[in-house]
Amino acid sequence: MMPETEFLRLSRREVLEASVAAAALGVCAPAAAAAPDALPASAPSVHASEVRFIVNGTPQTLSLDPRTTLLDALREHLHLTGSKKGCDHGQCGACTVMVGGQRINSCLTLAVMHAGDEVTTIEGLAAEADLHPMQAAFLRHDGFQCGYCTPGQICSSVAMLKEVEAGWPSHVTEDLGIAIDLTDAEIRERMSGNLCRCAAYPNIVAAIRDASEGGAL
Ligand code: FES
Ligand code: FES
Repeated sequence: MMPETEFLRLSRREVLEASVAAAALGVCAPAAAAAPDALPASAPSVHASEVRFIVNGTPQTLSLDPRTTLLDALREHLHLTGSKKGCDHGQCGACTVMVGGQRINSCLTLAVMHAGDEVTTIEGLAAEADLHPMQAAFLRHDGFQCGYCTPGQICSSVAMLKEVEAGWPSHVTEDLGIAIDLTDAEIRERMSGNLCRCAAYPNIVAAIRDASEGGAL
């Protein structure tokens, strides 16, 4: 092991050379690690918190490490894996669920913040064997390819249509104070928080338009 005094004598050039060599070998420094993994369901917690909320109509009580995100609580503790972890940083929308009817990125919020809330995931949209109209529209229009973003797209679009109905303007809304004309530009703007790496956007827009016209609210 290199003596501390010798380590401190490393030149800036030597440090840079070592970093380049490590990068070439695919060795990542801890600071450059990918998105953090979920806290394991079995991870010991010094201060576990009990959280009670309603998920897809069912009361749930979980004992969680207070650092657990809502996404990890759903996926790792309730095994509702429909909500996807794309970026874990609030950038892709794959983790979108509805809380109290409003869409949120479940990777950006802690489960303990939702005590008493009603959470709806993609698993809770369908009524028994009947698909939600938005799910059916995505199927009709092939609004997906790999499908990884699809649960988030569908949860987001269902809540988005309620926002339109409530008269919430978007960045591209031209006339405030009148009923919002749900143009393709409106749909694209309002869904811009949900990325699709397969670029199925034309069919996603068509599906949302179809569902909105068919009364998927
Ligand atoms: S996983 Fe939550 S926004 Fe990407
Ligand atoms: S369908 Fe593949 S990421 Fe959207």
